[in-house]
Amino acid sequence: PSLQRRVDCYLEDHLSQKFGSMESIRDNAFSRSNSSCSIATDEGLFEQPEPLPQSKAVMGKIIWRRSMQMRSQQQAWQESREGRKMMKFRQSLPAYKEKDALLMAISQNQVVIVSGETGCGKTTQIPQFILESEIESVHGPLCSIICTQPRRISAMSVSERVAAERGEKLGETVGYKVRLEGMKGKDTHLLFCTTGILLRRLLVDRNLKGVTHVIVDEIHERGMNEDFLLIVLKDLLPRRPELRLILMSATLDAELFSSYFGGAPMVHIPGFTYPVRTHFLENILEMTGYQLTPYNQIDDYGQDKMWKMNKQAPRKRKSQIASAVEDALRAADFKDFSPQTQESLSCWNPDCIGFNLIEYLLCNICEKERPGAILVFMTGWDDISSLKDKLQAHPILGDTSRVLLLACHGSMASAEQRLIFDEPEDGVRKIVLATNIAETSITINDVVFVIDCGKAKETSYDALNNTPCLLPSWISKVSAKQRRGRAGRVQPGECFHLYPRCVYDAFADYQLPEILRTPLQSLCLQIKSLKLGSISEFLSRALQSPELLAVQNAIEYLKIIGALDENENLTVLGHYLTKLPMEPKLGKMLILGAILNCLDSVLTVVAGLSVRDPFLTPLDKKDLADLAKAQFSRDYSDHLALVRAYEGWKDAERDLAGYEYCWKNFLSAQSMKAIDALRREFYSLLKDTGLVDGNTTTCNSWSYDEHLLRAVICYGLYPGICSIVHNEKSFSLKTMEDGQVLLYSNSVNARESKIPYPWLVFNEKIKVNSVFLRDSTAVSDSVLLLFGGAISRGDTDGHLKMLGGYLEFFMKPAIAEMYQSLRREFEELIHNK
Ligand code: CDP
Ligand code: MG
Repeated sequence: PSLQRRVDCYLEDHLSQKFGSMESIRDNAFSRSNSSCSIATDEGLFEQPEPLPQSKAVMGKIIWRRSMQMRSQQQAWQESREGRKMMKFRQSLPAYKEKDALLMAISQNQVVIVSGETGCGKTTQIPQFILESEIESVHGPLCSIICTQPRRISAMSVSERVAAERGEKLGETVGYKVRLEGMKGKDTHLLFCTTGILLRRLLVDRNLKGVTHVIVDEIHERGMNEDFLLIVLKDLLPRRPELRLILMSATLDAELFSSYFGGAPMVHIPGFTYPVRTHFLENILEMTGYQLTPYNQIDDYGQDKMWKMNKQAPRKRKSQIASAVEDALRAADFKDFSPQTQESLSCWNPDCIGFNLIEYLLCNICEKERPGAILVFMTGWDDISSLKDKLQAHPILGDTSRVLLLACHGSMASAEQRLIFDEPEDGVRKIVLATNIAETSITINDVVFVIDCGKAKETSYDALNNTPCLLPSWISKVSAKQRRGRAGRVQPGECFHLYPRCVYDAFADYQLPEILRTPLQSLCLQIKSLKLGSISEFLSRALQSPELLAVQNAIEYLKIIGALDENENLTVLGHYLTKLPMEPKLGKMLILGAILNCLDSVLTVVAGLSVRDPFLTPLDKKDLADLAKAQFSRDYSDHLALVRAYEGWKDAERDLAGYEYCWKNFLSAQSMKAIDALRREFYSLLKDTGLVDGNTTTCNSWSYDEHLLRAVICYGLYPGICSIVHNEKSFSLKTMEDGQVLLYSNSVNARESKIPYPWLVFNEKIKVNSVFLRDSTAVSDSVLLLFGGAISRGDTDGHLKMLGGYLEFFMKPAIAEMYQSLRREFEELIHNK
């Protein structure tokens, strides 16, 4: 038999030793999840409730007693002093006035769409209305409400808020569940979770047994998970006629969703906001003392500038704020909004949003304006952290007795989140630097001033080149309006848009849904594992279907990596990949790492790729940081550098010197801890798939074999591969699709002048003007031949053809002979294992 066949057989044998046939693998996985010890439980599936041993009558009594208890608890709280105060606040929210209409609509219709301005009480109140009315009803709280949130941080903060509004501790009636964390008890009737968690529950519980209400929040964001969930739920509704579905959206595109659900009724919560004075860049610059002259009226300097400072402006003030204005001008440095201009702007320089101008505005507000928090919308986490550093050094803004400076972004720790909601002491001004997360999902109560830089980081996907891009892009008109609206919640407010009016006019009305702009591999795998039929047929039923080319690319990718067979069915590998909640390439590494007994290091690699880059590069200390990283790199591999850094941290941590180690080596202690936690999580996932047996010595016996690790990394990252073309002094890189590509400057390979290997496998390529590779590992011909592609049940011919294509393309000499001998070696290796 061919090598491929042998390997297939090996894998199948290995798997069937554990589980018997393919069928029983599947059964086994399912029954395990039902007995609440499944892989999925760790990932956040809700444990199935223990079936009560009692008879129906006894059960009825238990429920009845429990409902009496809950009712009296609820009443006691509502009559207490604290409770009355809370009720008064809740009754002041616009959602409260619609309570009866909402409950009526929900009881009479299977699907209801609710819209209302951010802060009107959708997320915190509507699930509570349902819960309270169930508790007060005669039959008692038989409800189980699930409310999904697009982000962890909102699931956590909202559940905490709702529990507080009910005078309870989190985890009693109200709970939450996000990946790796959760709080939920046997009496939890209202659960806030991320959309991903609910999707994973659907994997083992297709009918959402026992769930009475599903509330999908923030649907206007049109995240991929939400769009996917809606297709699944739409299919589920006829099978579960008593299930209620409530969709909640902050903006007024409710009709789209209503018609998707066959004309489901819409309830709009009329909101009230105070007027917000709006300033665009030209007004702001005018305020600073400069008059702007439109481009066509000036001709002396700044040919390519649309705006120019008026030379008559007073000299003295110019020196004070000249740099502020110049920064802003740089941001507004375009004549039109043509694609070319957008492209040139996409090469993002954080200075361009005018840090100086923001600093100037903040200072101005702090010194001259009435009290009220300031919310600054920034592009991404990197901008936030560098601006924060800059402001902390400022004499006024850095003075902690006068200013409370906070950051708000998706990956922050929970303790940090809470500070954002608290009101500062009198005389202290709260300034929150936020990403677009503060647009709709998080409401900061006391905001009066908003500064908006006009951009957000958005993943997009170039289906033609099959390249994901992460680019700061202009927000939509709807987002700009949302941002402005944040200022008028408690009193009349002010909003400063750091872009000219003409740019705003050119914004798109709505943002493109995520499903139309990101790669679809994981989604396709999910569709297959939920047995939802043909991928393209299923996706054609989406609210807005992705391009056919994007779907085909994703299917093709899954075939190349061996997760789907020729007929688009899950292979054994594919089946295992669906059990591992991560990108397929990471799952592949874990599986091979387990089989080849080098799991310990592979766990670090995979965990490292799932968190924010732990290697920090502060702008002003970039050289030092690069040097620090270089000491971990002996192997022409960013992935192995991370393994070394982690091992070092682990040793230091044992001596309680983890922080010091991180500080010295420009590592993020937070990322290191996250890696540590994820390693454990991934290990237990693997244990549950049956691929490791809990004997850590055997599964690590080869853990530090650098060659083997290269093989595993290559197995995961293929077909992310580029050829190294050496010339006299250095080397250049080429991929088949993009031609010349570049390395990110913080890659260890970017520092080398020579790499003694012919190939690099890479984790990610991103298009920002040129195509850049992030995180790469050098590999040899033999590793690529043997591990590039689908070892398990792959399409052997296609795989070899593709590799052949690569070799031909890069004019590699025929290495048939070597391949033959390697085949023998590899067969032996497999045989001995
Ligand atoms: O979901 P929606 O944007 O409609 O509003 P919400 O999140 O339900 O919040 C309603 C109100 O509750 C807000 O206006 C805040 O005043 C308050 N709230 C709070 O004080 N603390 C939180 N963690 C969440 C909400
Ligand atoms: Mg909300």
